[in-house]
Amino acid sequence: MKRIEPKLTVVGAGPGDPELITIKAARLLMEADIVLYDALVNTELLDYVPSSVPTIFVGKRAKAHAYTQQQINDLIIDSAFSYGHVVRLKGGDPFVFGRGWEEIEHARSFNIDAGYVPGISSSIGVAGLQQIPVTHRGTSESFWVITGTTSSGKISKDVQAAAQTNATVVILMGLHKLQEIVEIFSHAGKSSLPVSVVQNGSLTNEKYVLGNIDNIEKRVVAAGIGAPAIIVIGEVVALHPEYNKTLAEKIKIDNSFYSLN
Ligand SMILES: C[S@@+](CC[C@H](N)C(=O)[O-])C[C@H]1O[C@@H](n2cnc3c(N)ncnc32)[C@H](O)[C@@H]1O
Repeated sequence: MKRIEPKLTVVGAGPGDPELITIKAARLLMEADIVLYDALVNTELLDYVPSSVPTIFVGKRAKAHAYTQQQINDLIIDSAFSYGHVVRLKGGDPFVFGRGWEEIEHARSFNIDAGYVPGISSSIGVAGLQQIPVTHRGTSESFWVITGTTSSGKISKDVQAAAQTNATVVILMGLHKLQEIVEIFSHAGKSSLPVSVVQNGSLTNEKYVLGNIDNIEKRVVAAGIGAPAIIVIGEVVALHPEYNKTLAEKIKIDNSFYSLN
């Protein structure tokens, strides 16, 4: 009988396209004794997991039972002692708003060997796939990745600070805070700063809009953009090949939007 060796690897699955996973992550899925995966993980990746190996969905999905972080932590420990190697598969990169480090620390507190495999974060990858580089020589010297929703449910204060800089600002989990975000950038005198919002980046159902701080809210509504989405704010958005064209076309959309109301 195989000796159980408790182990945890927190693994990044990338932003959604199943080809955007690392070779190392795919190998670990083939070798896992149990896989616990999140909502934003593309389930096609579970094809790497041998059929005899259990896979458990622990993410939040509408109407489904949602595990608390404590329950996930407990499940990791139980799974490691009962099965051996737990592969904890998370959307994007596990250390970018992924609670990956909490799970590693928790496992280590039980003397479980715990490691990490990076993934392509939506914050960089989804923007890049939309032909928006987060940095570009002469345009943007840095980028901030900020959460729109902190543990208290409020927008991060860092958005205010970032709005004072020339950095590219990428906001995750921020769609329902778009009005507040727009206000912050408007108060910073940046009403014409280019913005893009991208939903389901890297997937076949990807949707995006381009605009600026002044009109992005209307464009998001007009295009029916929903979560999961990233908000990219900064001059680099104007590098998008359709930025100027879309601005001209979307003025019509804005006018009809106004006339409907
Ligand atoms: C809990 S955070 C996890 C982020 C993840 N660890 C990463 O590095 O991409 C979830 C948020 O990431 C963003 N996100 C993740 N995948 C996305 C995708 N394919 N398209 C757009 N946004 C995405 C959304 O803002 C979503 O609300």
